[in-house]
Amino acid sequence: MTTFAQNDPQARQRARQLAQAYQAQGDFTGWFEALYAEGRAGQALIPWADRAVNPYFADWLTAYPQSWTGVRCAVVGCGLGDDAEALAALGADVVAFDIAPSAVAWSQQRFPASAVHYCTADVLHPPAEWTGLFDFVLEIYTVQVFREFAQRQQVLHQLANLLSPQGKLLLIARGRQAGEPIGQMPWPLAVSELAELVKEQLYLDGTVGSVEELWEAGSPPILRLRALYRKGQRS
Ligand SMILES: C[S@@+](CC[C@H](N)C(=O)[O-])C[C@H]1O[C@@H](n2cnc3c(N)ncnc32)[C@H](O)[C@@H]1O
Repeated sequence: MTTFAQNDPQARQRARQLAQAYQAQGDFTGWFEALYAEGRAGQALIPWADRAVNPYFADWLTAYPQSWTGVRCAVVGCGLGDDAEALAALGADVVAFDIAPSAVAWSQQRFPASAVHYCTADVLHPPAEWTGLFDFVLEIYTVQVFREFAQRQQVLHQLANLLSPQGKLLLIARGRQAGEPIGQMPWPLAVSELAELVKEQLYLDGTVGSVEELWEAGSPPILRLRALYRKGQRS
């Protein structure tokens, strides 16, 4: 049985091993399927999967209540599905996708009566019919798994493309401070990098108006970034 693994050094080490092995072969994302397949077989822990709604997303939902009924949402790199389920429980119409078929199958197994449409898809090559379809896109810890700036740029470009006019993107990422090296996986995002990535495609939404830098207690403390963007004109 997979348990809370976020601070488990072995879980992170196995994920790093797989990431390194696949990326050395020029395959940047294949390691996710390998890890989820091991996880499903009870042979590994998934370092980011705590089987609960992401706390920074849960806080945000509470802080900025709105009517979600019928709002078309996409959850990118949905992992084991908890965040997608939270949106569906509020009445949203949710598509949740992941590049790893085992993550999708695992989510469907965990939530057999779910209203969420789970599917396998690559954020870099989304189905054409998704262009401009979603009022709300949720991305948690997925942009950052692309190690290179050019790849991150492509991902942001695709996320912007998924949004309807005036659609909103909530991004939650592991952060790093200015000048801090990117280090090992999970390859945190810097605020300055984020500003470059969203440039001319997305604008910070006026509700919060800035990238929030949220410090999580720990030794050392962990920086999380949370930002709400929208398509369209600057607020
Ligand atoms: C660090 S995990 C975060 C998962 C989930 N959002 C969470 O917070 O628990 C990144 C997720 O993105 C997925 N992913 C990686 N590359 C992807 C791609 N090109 N398209 C869609 N999903 C991708 C991985 O399989 C993995 O589930």
